[in-house]
Amino acid sequence: EPRVFSGIQPTGIPHLGNYLGALQSWVHLQERYHTVLYSIVDLHSITVPQDPGTLRQSVLDMAACLLACGISPAQSCIFQQSQVAEHAELAWILSCLTSMPRLRHLPQWKVKSQRQNNEGSVGLFTYPVLQAADILLYRATHVPVGDDQVQHLELTQDTARLFNRLYGDFFPIPKAIMGTSKKIRSLRDPSSKMSKSDPHKLATVRLTDSPEEIVMKFRKAVTDFTSEVTYDPEGRPGVSNLVAIHSAVTGLSAEEIVGRSRGMETAQYKLAVAEAVIQKLRPIREEMHRLQKDRGYLQGVLRQGAQRAKEMAAPVYDSVCRLVGFR
Ligand code: TYM
Repeated sequence: EPRVFSGIQPTGIPHLGNYLGALQSWVHLQERYHTVLYSIVDLHSITVPQDPGTLRQSVLDMAACLLACGISPAQSCIFQQSQVAEHAELAWILSCLTSMPRLRHLPQWKVKSQRQNNEGSVGLFTYPVLQAADILLYRATHVPVGDDQVQHLELTQDTARLFNRLYGDFFPIPKAIMGTSKKIRSLRDPSSKMSKSDPHKLATVRLTDSPEEIVMKFRKAVTDFTSEVTYDPEGRPGVSNLVAIHSAVTGLSAEEIVGRSRGMETAQYKLAVAEAVIQKLRPIREEMHRLQKDRGYLQGVLRQGAQRAKEMAAPVYDSVCRLVGFR
């Protein structure tokens, strides 16, 4: 039986990269599959320091955002990771199957530990093991994520294979499902991905940005000195990122976009992309603002989600304990 699992960190309002790389496909997948779980991964978020009050609010904001994007609590199980204790418990078992060198080369550790003077926490280091536990705890078969999570998924697959080899065939090997756009880049620096933690305010378009903010961010987007619109991610990453965003929000292919933009200067084209993004985000932003006022409803969705997730996780974790020899 196929099962879909994915997660997002509650570290602020999601951006266009999260939406186009992952959330948009989360919405489609709930129509196609019977068992679908989306987790707000608060355990992962504390691998870098978080203020408790802000974290509490961010979990509710993320729940509002997932609902506003079109994820339905009737079709998908939306829950807060820390409310299902088995995530951390399974992570411990899997961490004993994972070697230190295997983790040392993963991108998240390299980038984020550098930002902490190469003195990142043990949790930051074992972050991908917890992610493997998230996925395997539901014996998930499909994991919709953006391009930046591919290496984490490979680790999950390796861990599942090793477990199966040691203890008998138990976990399905989960497959990544890539979103419409694998990787959306920063509007300020097309060599890096769009990221929630980017210190540059104009680099990242959040799903709740006002039309004025969106126009300003696209107007200032870094491109190059050629004024035509072409799609060439290697040679012209800045303009190509705009085409990729435009394509993902309109559903047109990159070729169609380029065809329709013939004769336009990049300055003009940036405004066309901004307009398409504004149209796409308007209903999400409005619904988000409506939902954010209803904390009781959001808490209810999360409470029910956690209960259902727990019902699925408990028997799997119980089997793991038997296989390992704890029972
Ligand atoms: P997170 O919270 O950083 O991002 C959530 C999702 O958004 C995708 N994404 C992007 N896609 C395209 N372009 C971008 N610039 C971009 N930035 C982010 C991510 O690929 C992701 O799909 N480790 C995960 C959370 C996680 C998880 C899991 C995911 C924890 N456990 C289990 C899947 C399964 C993360 O930090 O995502």
